[in-house]
Formats: sequence, C-alpha cells, structure tokens
Amino acid sequence: MLPLETLTIGRMAIDTVSEVTAPLLLLVLLVLLLLTAYSQRKQSDIPGPSFLAGLGPILSYTRFIWTGIGTASNYYNNKFGSIVRVWINGEETLILSRQVLKTLSPTTQARFGSKKGLQCIGMEGRGIIFNSDIPLWKKVRTYFSKALTGPGLQRTVAICVSSTAKHLDRLKEMTDSSGHVDALNLLRAIVVDISNRLFLRVPLNEKDLLMKIHNYFETWQTVLIQPDIFFKIGWLYNKHKKAAQELQDEMERLLEIKRQIINETEKLDDDLDFATELIFAQNHGELSADNVRQCVLEMVIAAPDTLSISLFFMLMLLKQNPDVELRIVEEMNTVSSECEKGAENIYYGSLNVLENFINESLRFHPVVDFTMRKSLEDDIIEGTKIRKGTNIILNIGLMHKTEFFSKPKEFNLMNFDKTVPSRFFQPFGCGPRSCVGKHIAMVMMRAILITLLSRYTVCPRQGCTLDSIKQTNNLSQQPVEDEHSLAMRFIPRTTQPQHSQL
Ligand code: HEM
Ligand SMILES: *[C@@H]1O[C@H](CO)[C@@H](O)[C@H](O)[C@H]1NC(C)=O
Ligand SMILES: *[C@@H]1O[C@H](CO)[C@@H](O)[C@H](O)[C@H]1NC(C)=O
Ligand SMILES: *[C@@H]1O[C@H](CO)[C@@H](O)[C@H](O)[C@H]1NC(C)=O
Repeated sequence: MLPLETLTIGRMAIDTVSEVTAPLLLLVLLVLLLLTAYSQRKQSDIPGPSFLAGLGPILSYTRFIWTGIGTASNYYNNKFGSIVRVWINGEETLILSRQVLKTLSPTTQARFGSKKGLQCIGMEGRGIIFNSDIPLWKKVRTYFSKALTGPGLQRTVAICVSSTAKHLDRLKEMTDSSGHVDALNLLRAIVVDISNRLFLRVPLNEKDLLMKIHNYFETWQTVLIQPDIFFKIGWLYNKHKKAAQELQDEMERLLEIKRQIINETEKLDDDLDFATELIFAQNHGELSADNVRQCVLEMVIAAPDTLSISLFFMLMLLKQNPDVELRIVEEMNTVSSECEKGAENIYYGSLNVLENFINESLRFHPVVDFTMRKSLEDDIIEGTKIRKGTNIILNIGLMHKTEFFSKPKEFNLMNFDKTVPSRFFQPFGCGPRSCVGKHIAMVMMRAILITLLSRYTVCPRQGCTLDSIKQTNNLSQQPVEDEHSLAMRFIPRTTQPQHSQL
C-alpha cells in the first residue's frame, strides 16, 4: 500500500547502505515519506484522515473491518463532516451524509465489495444485490420488479395477514417458561413464511431455513470487505465458506422441488410466482442455473434480513412511546368501524398515524443505515471531482437526522407532520439501484402490524429499550442476539377493536 516512489527509494537505499550512515538514511526516508504524504493530501481537498505514507489507508481500513462499515462511517462523518474521504482495501472511498444522489445516480449503478468475498457468498456477477455486471443486473432486476410491484397487492395483504395470524395462534410453542417470546425470531418466522408463499411456494422447514439465512448473513458481513489474504487463511475462512454454501445448497434443493412441482402441474396459474418465472427464463436460456439459484436466494433472504428487524425496532419504539400506541389502536378502531364492506378494508384504508409511525421508525432507527455504491465514471459531487472507481457510502442514518426535521434526534411523529421531500428521507435508498422491494415492504409492514397490534400489546423485558440493547452496525443495524434482551411478553389486548372481527 506504500506509494511506489518510496518503495524504489527504499531499495536503492539498501544498495548503498554501506556508504551512508544509517541514521542519515532514516532521516532521508522519513522526509521522503512525509513529502509523499503531503503531496497525496494536496491531491484532494476532501476532508478525511491523512495519508501518512500509507499508514492512513491501513488505519481507516482497519477501523472498517474492526468496528463494522456502519459504525466506521458514523465515526468518520461525525469527526470530519458530511463528506469524508477514507480508504477501504486501498480504494478511495467517500462517505456522504448529505443527500447528493441526484448527481450520483447515472454513474453509480454498481456496488463495491471484495471480489473474493462476493464469490464466497455467490453474489459476484450473480443475483441482484451486489451484482456489478450492469447489463445482467438490469435484466435480473426486471424479474424482481415484476414480482414485487404491480397487481399482487391484495394477495400480498392476504398472505401477510394469514401468516401473521397463523404464527400468533401458535405463540405458545415459542413462549419460554417465564412467559417471554423471542420477538425477533417470531417476526423472522412470519416474514420468511410470507416470502416463501409469495415468491417460491415450496413446503419448507422454517426454523432450519432461518438458521441458514442467519449464518449466511453473518458470512456476508464478515467477508464483504476483507483483504484477499483473509480467504487464504483456512481456519478463519472455512467456516464462513461453509455457512454460505449451506444456504446455496438448500436453495438448490428447494428449487429442485419447485421444478418438479412445475413439471407435475397440468395448468399453471396466470400469474406466475417469482421462482417459476426464473425457472422458465432458465429453460429459455435467458439466465444461468447459478444465477437463478442466487436470485431466489436473495429474494428469500431480503425480507428476513431487513423487514423483520425493522418490525422488531418498531415494537420496541412502540413500548417506549405508549401514547403513540394508543393513537394507532384508536385509529384502527375508527377506521374498521367506518369500513362498510367489512373489517377487511382496514388493510387498504388510510391509516395516517400508523404510516406516520412506520416512517418515523424507519427514519429514527433504520435497519439499513447506509448504502454502498461504486462510481463507474469520473463524476462531480457537490463540486468535488471524484475519479472512476471511487467507492461511495451514503450514510442514510445521519442523512435522516438533519435540521429539516423538527425533532431530528428524537423519536417523534411530529417529524412527519409536514410533507418530507424525498431527499431528506430515503429509508430505501434512491435512484435506479434503490430497494426494489420498497413498495411491497410498506404493504407488508402495515399488514403485519395491523394484525399483530389488533391482537396483542408487547412488553419487552424490564429495562430493555432501543438504547440499552446491544447492537452492531456492520452491514446493517441489528440487535445482538443474546437470549435475554430480545424477549418480549405478548399480552392479549383486553379491549379488542370494537367493530372489527380481526
Ligand atoms: C423495511 C424493509 C426494507 C428496507 C429498510 C430496505 C432497504 C433497502 C436499501 C436501503 C437498499 C439499497 C438501496 C440503494 O443502494 O440505494 C435495498 C436494496 C434492495 N432491497 Fe430492500 N429494504 C427492505 C425490504 C426489502 C424487501 C421486502 C425486499 C424483497 C422482498 C427487498 C429487496 C431488495 C433488493 C433486491 C435490493 C437490491 C436492489 C439492487 O441492487 O438493484 N428489500 N433495500
Ligand atoms: C460486527 O461488528 C461488531 C462490532 O460492533 C463486531 O464485534 C462483530 O464481530 C462484527 N461482526 C461481523 C460478522 O463482522
Ligand atoms: C419433467 O418431466 C419430463 C417428462 O415427463 C422429464 O423428462 C424431465 O426430466 C422432468 N424435469 C424435471 C426438472 O423434473
Ligand atoms: C411516509 O413516507 C413516504 C415516503 O417514503 C411518503 O410517501 C408518505 O407520504 C409518508 N407518510 C406519512 C404518513 O408521512
């Protein structure tokens, strides 16, 4: 990582070591190092840690690996301001905490990450999330868009409601002797069931699949920005490789079952599910088998990795803000009593307080705290030239805490009293590479929350608040899963919503 000049000078110096005294040599070297450091710094006027003859890049990279990408990004933005230049694996990286994507979007349709790391998890040139083969990504994205938007709204709501109800009916099985339920696990189980029923439709073992998804995610956050040497160290790397492989094998197995089901079905529905569309695309030579497997894998993990954690944060926030819970329940009662065509309509009616609450939760404590991009062309951002190949981190978490909001640092529904322009609030990112599931995610969160809150009020273990539970912020912001802090009691609501049969 040292600049080339210093290396060559170093070698020359060794050749002549007999003629010059060592201390003098060291001094010359030091001056040269400082000069390179200085000239490097002058190349860019973006604030950030200094180059320090190659030490700066090593230090910033170490911070990213050690504390996680999210934590490190927050550290640098807090220290240097809303635009910071650091290095990840020797690559220049900008961290931005002000909205600039308008100028970014045409040139930044790729993400960055270690090639070997992405190969390990099957994402290199495959799937959608970290696929940087732009033509292929565009093709794949149309399949995701089709499955995640469009006419399936009613079906989505019906599946969310029935999955949530089914799991709530079996709450006893998940309750421990002290009357607590691991709320995050419950939400994950609900969400993975919904994803399966929407996109794959194959019988599966939820618990087993969830464990594999969890291990895959751990591997993902571990390998994403590791240096190449990491992948050569067997005792470090092998267990991660195994975890990634296990989920890929499981997906292959589920897809095999799916292929059989399709084969045995005489006449398929008019609206084909995601997996079926992909299998057909493969049959027509449009997509490779590996790509199909990876796309289905990413579709199945997307919601359990994001949505269930968002919902968990929401349940915590609700308990810390009982007045908000009261308003949400009142609103649900009012709307369902006004529904003439039956209680079902509550799922489609306007629930302003609930939506406001969802927005404020996503703003205040986002699960995806930042997004990653790579600039494919030279570009200018906020008057600063950035070179082709520069990595970009958009710090959504900080972007959401600007003075635009009346109480930026507090959880408060007032923050959404006035219409929030999209540049101040982007829980799903923006531009062509934004979350392809953003519409369905809102529908799902709404339907799950309505179903859950109309039957139960939750109560986290005493003393557990969003501030007090341990969390990590590597690839996304997540609670640390020890046995106690995620447990909640689910208390049946005594006053059922009066006019609904929910
Ligand atoms: C609360 C729930 C969710 C949140 C907060 C969330 C957030 C995000 C964010 C911030 C990105 C990156 C956007 C960017 O770089 O600009 C993203 C990408 C993505 N999300 Fe979501 N998401 C959620 C739910 C979902 C769901 C339910 C699905 C699908 C079932 C999904 C599928 C995807 C995919 C496939 C991408 C990659 C898109 C691409 O690279 O083209 N997400 N999400
Ligand atoms: C995530 O970050 C935390 C520090 O906040 C660290 O202890 C943990 O090992 C990291 N996990 C992974 C998988 O990188
Ligand atoms: C589907 O059925 C046909 C014949 O009925 C068979 O040749 C083919 O291998 C089957 N494909 C799969 C994926 O099971
Ligand atoms: C919530 O945020 C979305 C943008 O993501 C916006 O369209 C919607 O109007 C907001 N809803 C409320 C109630 O603030």
